[in-house]
Amino acid sequence: MAKAVADDYLRRIPKAELHCHLAGTLRATTVAELAKQYGIALPRPAETLYQWPNFDGFLEILRIAAGVLRTPADFTRAVYEYIEDAVRDGNLKHVEFFFNPDYFYPNGIDYPSQVAGMVEGLRQAKEHFGVSGLLICCIDRSLNNGAQAVEIVETALAHPHELVVGIGLDGNESVGPPALYAEAYALARKGGLKCTAHCCEDYLTPLQAPPTNYLICRDVLRCDRIDHGYNMLASDFVMSEARKDGLYFTPCAWTSLLHNRPHRPQRIRRMAEAGLNVTINTDDPAMFGTNLGHGFTTLFESVGWGPDMARRFSLNSVEGSWLDESSKAALRMTFRKEIAALDKEFGYEAVALPV
Ligand code: ADE
Ligand code: ZN
Repeated sequence: MAKAVADDYLRRIPKAELHCHLAGTLRATTVAELAKQYGIALPRPAETLYQWPNFDGFLEILRIAAGVLRTPADFTRAVYEYIEDAVRDGNLKHVEFFFNPDYFYPNGIDYPSQVAGMVEGLRQAKEHFGVSGLLICCIDRSLNNGAQAVEIVETALAHPHELVVGIGLDGNESVGPPALYAEAYALARKGGLKCTAHCCEDYLTPLQAPPTNYLICRDVLRCDRIDHGYNMLASDFVMSEARKDGLYFTPCAWTSLLHNRPHRPQRIRRMAEAGLNVTINTDDPAMFGTNLGHGFTTLFESVGWGPDMARRFSLNSVEGSWLDESSKAALRMTFRKEIAALDKEFGYEAVALPV
């Protein structure tokens, strides 16, 4: 049976990526090269580095990979290489990277040096690819309790940078339920930072990462956006609240755990069809063996959506971004023009794009 939308259309439709951990984008070859340069022992060779038995095992490898970034130039390289890959694989136009500052402190690279390195990578990528980027300072809940999270936010506020626009919360959700971080989030908001949090991830059951975590993220952390969200599907009440709230969600089409891979597209389908504002993201693309284009093609193959939903996800990614209004308006215009050109090229019925 013919596909409802061509893979090439899905790969080439313009995208903003709102959920992407810098450490999870590192090419295994880059990790191996830097490890050799710094004399760091890795647990396995590059070809098999990105393998793990469970979610905590994945987080461990993620932190090991992050540990090879030792100088600002390494951060610049990481940012630049990911944008290079994502432009090629999925027509990336804008990216918002999570970075966990405390992954790097043990190796002697302080917060301002990390930010300076990433900002330089964003500058080079803007110059070479025309892609814009923002940074989100992230708290790993597996490593940080509420008081330690406050310290992370204090550091971010003590070294403000116009491209570091918000905070996030990742790591194992069952270890650090969102309410623990109320003080850190209040401080961030007071300091003018936007807020997002990983919530209701499906490597945990709906009892371990319950739908009510969404309500805590909304009411206590006062999040502007939510990462993932799948376990919310277990509560009709929470789903109907989320639909009314209109926050943007950043689910990811491909996942760290093999057994979740067949279910993920159907969970995203249900979230989108329930009327949530959904965007499609990669999370940790190099580590999961996915990329921006692959996420779209596998999702659409599994769900059977046509070009209308591809256009919606493409434009949602602009609306859900944390760009300022004038940059967002310019990006929206670019997306609309590129989508119209793609529709013409592929002979897809021209529709009035949502305003
Ligand atoms: N760190 C990197 N990716 C993550 C994810 N999907 N969930 C929690 N922590 C993460
Ligand atoms: Zn994530």
